[in-house]
Formats: sequence, structure tokens, C-alpha cells
Amino acid sequence: METMERLFQSNFKVGAYPFYEYLRQHDPIFLMSQQHNQSSWIVTKYDHVKELLKTQSFLKDQSKLFSTSPHDTPQDEMTTIFQNMMLDVDPPDHTRLRKLVQPYFNPKTIKNLQPRIEDIADQLIMEMNNKKGPIDLINDFAFPLPIIVISELLGVPAEDRNKFRRWSNTILAAADDMETDFVEDVQAFTQYLTRLFEERREEPQDDLISNLLQAEEEGEQLSRTELYSMIVLLIIAGHETTVNLIANTMYALFEHPRQMERLREDFSWTENAIEEGLRYYSPVDFSTARWAEKDMEFHGKHIQRGDLVLASLSSANRDESKFERADEFDITRKEVQHVAFGFGIHFCLGAPLARLEGKIALEKLLNAFPDIRLAEQKPNWRPVFLLRGLDNLYVNIK
Ligand code: HEM
Repeated sequence: METMERLFQSNFKVGAYPFYEYLRQHDPIFLMSQQHNQSSWIVTKYDHVKELLKTQSFLKDQSKLFSTSPHDTPQDEMTTIFQNMMLDVDPPDHTRLRKLVQPYFNPKTIKNLQPRIEDIADQLIMEMNNKKGPIDLINDFAFPLPIIVISELLGVPAEDRNKFRRWSNTILAAADDMETDFVEDVQAFTQYLTRLFEERREEPQDDLISNLLQAEEEGEQLSRTELYSMIVLLIIAGHETTVNLIANTMYALFEHPRQMERLREDFSWTENAIEEGLRYYSPVDFSTARWAEKDMEFHGKHIQRGDLVLASLSSANRDESKFERADEFDITRKEVQHVAFGFGIHFCLGAPLARLEGKIALEKLLNAFPDIRLAEQKPNWRPVFLLRGLDNLYVNIK
């Protein structure tokens, strides 16, 4: 079976799961590439993935290993923003940054957003009802819902969401080495944020940006660069993930009509259906990079200091040694202990929000549209390495 090339083909997502199964059985710590004496590995088994994500000798901050990062490029502004994201740093910086934002994302705080999220969902459904012909569930529902929510939470004008969509697409495409107007877009993004910060500083609002600005002004807790990094991280995380959770789970339900029926008969399965959706079509295929702090053996492979190691969350979530009938979509599966939100200290900050949005989305859509069904047989998976998401999901609602 051809290996490395496969991961980067645009239709890779279609055959990904059998490929992961092959790797789990024959080559679970898979050497994806080797360049300039540095190897890149993919970890595919559930237990190994958890071990990787909790082991401290796999670092997030690459700069601790090299005096100059091999990824230093003319796009320095973005490099700096990425290096200062809490997702890309280790303790103690990670602990300090996470503590600052954690209170805003606790399940209890998030629960207070429920009525507002329901209103937004109702509004989007009303607009869908006014449309004729097939509707793109992504464009008209799964995308705007989480964007409006995160924009309001941060204090970013929701009407600018198309700009953010473009910028976060650019940043992700750059991570995949695809051609984009990277430098221009990054500049536009940071200039936009600078203006927004000035506005909020003059007139603070009851939003996360105003609160973080205050933390930055009081010094010590948060540097200026870290502030940009945090907002960019939250915008990207809020833009590129929950949309996939909603659309992928709806798609899995369309593909499995008996499961759809089951859910319609008893909506108390909704939360479980979301967990199963997270496991079955994990919205984030791979963890972000970890770097080996030292030479080490990892389940039979020799990993060298500075090697890059990625966890395949999708593969772990289909590991038959952890999940019975792993390739079956079953919304009544008990205690779905998936790793779709990662594991360890970088476990997704937004998980309670994503779960709540997913639950509300499913309930609202299925209640509003008793006949909702796919309008095309095979929607396309986006050719983005890190994520599993559909380009469009056309449905008929009447
Ligand atoms: C981290 C998945 C939604 C904010 C992560 C990680 C995963 C993940 C796998 C860990 C990455 C790693 O360890 O390399 C998801 C999925 C989502 C989702 C599947 C939706 C279904 C969100 C939302 C937000 C968010 C809505 C915020 C608004 C974050 C942040 C981190 C993170 C800030 C970094 C946490 C840290 O470094 O401590 N997410 N995410 N995520 N996520 Fe999410």
C-alpha cells in the first residue's frame, strides 16, 4: 500500500479509515516523512495517542529545541503569533494562559449561553425556511451558528464573519502549504485586531476581548503578543471545528437512516449522538505537532530529538481494541470515550461550548424539519490535512 503520498491527496479523506486500520495493524507508529535528518511520525492507536498527548517529553514549543526554528520564514508575524498561542506552549506559560481564559469556557458559564444559542439557531432556521430548493446546511446553518456565538463571546462584530472565514482559511491552507495571499491576509487580520483592541480599550464592553485587554494592561499575566495569539487561536478554533461537528454528525445520520429514526423517536439520545458523531467523523483529524525533547524509543520506533510527532485522533477513535464495532455509527453506544477533543493539558478549551452547540443544532434541525434529507449522494470532504469537514452539505427540507 502506498503510504505518505496518500495522506496529502485531495481524495484521501474518502479512504482514510481503511488506511488507518491498516496502519494500526501493521505499522502503528508510522513514519510519514523524513527531511533534513528530521522525521515526522503519525501515532494511530488509541492507547499510544493518549500516551503521546500526556507525555511531557513531547514538547509543544519547538523553539526550546532549536535556537532558530526551521520554520522561520519571511512570514514572521504569523510565526510569532503561532509560537505564542497557548496551544503551542508548554508549562508554566501554558498554565498561566489557560487559567486566564478557562473561566469563560467552563460548562457552567457556557450553559448560560443556551438561550442565546437557541435564538440564533431559530433565526437561522427561519431564514432556511424562506429559501427555495436545496439548501447548503453548512453555509446556512452549521457555519454561521458557531461563528455568531464565538464572535459575541469574544466581542468581534459578527457581520465581519466572512473576513474571518477568509483569514482562518488562509492560515489553515498555509499549514497545508497551499498557495494563498498569506502575507497580505495575515497583515489584514492583525490590523483589524489592532483597531478592534483600540475601540475596546476606549470603550470596554462585557466581552472576552475587553477582559483580556485589561489583563494585558495590568501586565505580567498576558503580553501584547500573547493577546493577539489568544484571539487568533480562539477565532480559528471557533471557526473551523464546530461547523464540522454539526455537519459531519448530520451527514452520518443521513447515511444511517435507522440511527436517524432512533434519534427522532427519542431526543434524549441527542447528547450521545453528538459524542458518537465526534468519534465516528472526528472534526479534527490530527492533533497539532509535538516535538521529541530527546532521543527515545516509542513502541518499537526510535524517535530522535527534534522529531515531529502527530496523533491521529480519527484513527484512535476507530481503534477496535478500544471500541467494539468501531466502524459502526451507533448513537446508543455507551460512554464514548473518544479523543476527538484531544487529551491531557491541551484538552480542548471549547469542548463544553462545542457540545452544547452540537446538541442545540441537532435538536433544532430535526424538530424544525421532519423530512430533512440529503439532496446529493456524495458530498465532498475538504482536502485539508488537519480537519475532517465537508465542502457543502445540500439538503431538501420540504
Ligand atoms: C484544543 C478539538 C471546538 C478552543 C483542541 C484540541 C483538539 C480540539 C483536538 C487539542 C489539540 C492538540 O492537543 O494538539 C476541537 C473540536 C471542536 C473544538 C473537535 C469542535 C467540535 C473548539 C471551540 C473552541 C476551541 C468552539 C473555542 C471557542 C480550543 C483551544 C484549544 C483547543 C483554545 C487549545 C487548548 C490548550 O492548548 O490548552 N481542540 N475543538 N475548540 N481548542 Fe478545540
